[in-house]
Amino acid sequence: MRIDPWATARVADYDRLLKEFGIDRFDSSKLPNPQRLFRRGIVFGARGFDLIQGAIDARRSFAVLTGLMPSGPMHLGHKMVLDQAMYLHSVGGDLFVAVADIEAYATRGLSLEKAREVAIEEYIKSYIALGLPKKRCQVYFQSTRKAVKDLAYRAGRKVNFSTMKAIYGMDDQTNMAHMFAPLVQVGDILHVQLEEYGGPRPTVVPVGIDQDPHLRLTRDIAFGHRLTNAMAARDRRVGVFIKSDEDVEGLLGMAEGVASGLGFRKFKKIVKYKALYIEDAEAADVLALDAAMIREERSRNGLAFFTPSSTYHRFITLLTGDKMSSSKPDSAIFLSDPPGVAAQKILRAKTGGAVSVEEQRKTGGNPDGCSVFDMLMAHLVDDDWRLSEIKEDCRHGTRMCGPCKKEVAEMMQRFLGDLQERKAAAGETWKEFVVEDC
Ligand code: TRP
Ligand code: SF4
Repeated sequence: MRIDPWATARVADYDRLLKEFGIDRFDSSKLPNPQRLFRRGIVFGARGFDLIQGAIDARRSFAVLTGLMPSGPMHLGHKMVLDQAMYLHSVGGDLFVAVADIEAYATRGLSLEKAREVAIEEYIKSYIALGLPKKRCQVYFQSTRKAVKDLAYRAGRKVNFSTMKAIYGMDDQTNMAHMFAPLVQVGDILHVQLEEYGGPRPTVVPVGIDQDPHLRLTRDIAFGHRLTNAMAARDRRVGVFIKSDEDVEGLLGMAEGVASGLGFRKFKKIVKYKALYIEDAEAADVLALDAAMIREERSRNGLAFFTPSSTYHRFITLLTGDKMSSSKPDSAIFLSDPPGVAAQKILRAKTGGAVSVEEQRKTGGNPDGCSVFDMLMAHLVDDDWRLSEIKEDCRHGTRMCGPCKKEVAEMMQRFLGDLQERKAAAGETWKEFVVEDC
């Protein structure tokens, strides 16, 4: 049971994937003005998103964390993660961008200096050109953030070698830095809940499905450190449940103390169920209650966090099958591709067209299996009405692949031309986004 960089783009397989790995189907219906990746189902899965939805609805603070590996050029697949992160920021999240320079060093052999240069030139400047916000947003390097490395080290206590082998396929030949890299990512994801980075709050990590192993590991570690678990129970009460079998009464007392501190008064303690029901609390109070529980737990065992949430987008590629990849230049459009080269890639891309023009006039095309249509859907057309018009014309055989590809190639060429101009204009402004702790 292992997801490695997952290699398929067909929706049927994604359904199976959700089931197999216990990922929730993503429901965008309650999001305020969902960005197109969310409203078009490109973001197809999530773990624990109800926490984030709750924070958005209640206008409570939450964090958004995304990471980039500065080992190769940035492509449109990477942009999808940023698009999600910027949307989640726009609805209230504090945005953190982790530059995984330690991971690039450990797993790809780049020097930290080289990783830094790639991060700035390829990624951070592109992010700025794509609209990275300045407020409530910071970019940092793993190598200069002590809190991340300390947390990685401490979190390591909850993981053993056999877990790492099972999740990542590590073996006796894996170098120790590589072995440790996933824990640094755990540090990335959890450190935003430390007091000095905003305190305990729900955290969402938008990623491609290939990163799910890291999320499962992080969620297990986060939950593994908790002493209690607060949730809305049936009949609209809120319950705080004690996770361990030791000192249940003491911990129930702690929970009651925390809840009293927040002003709640009506408690029902059932030691047998290891539960404290708070009868004058409602579902909307769970976030505040859990944050207070976490602070109290930290004063006892040091590490307690909201279990981080994640969202998963499906991959979009110019060829069938694989995800966009730096190692297959024809599958991906790089943000630094000369616009004419990117246009050529679109013209060569895999479409959902029929074998001949005559056939396509009769049977229509298949936009759902067309990478050119995917580009429109994910990146180039924001207007839903316009997109559905294109889709219908394709299906009805009134839109032909030749002219369609040409139009999309031109759109892509313009998009990249504009982006590259803005990127060049970004100059040294990246320094205003980066926070270096040490
Ligand atoms: N491992 C990620 C990648 O290969 C990069 C990364 C590092 C990351 N830290 C992160 C992604 C935290 C999400 C959250 O691209
Ligand atoms: Fe794809 Fe356009 Fe051809 Fe339809 S007409 S299959 S959208 S390239």
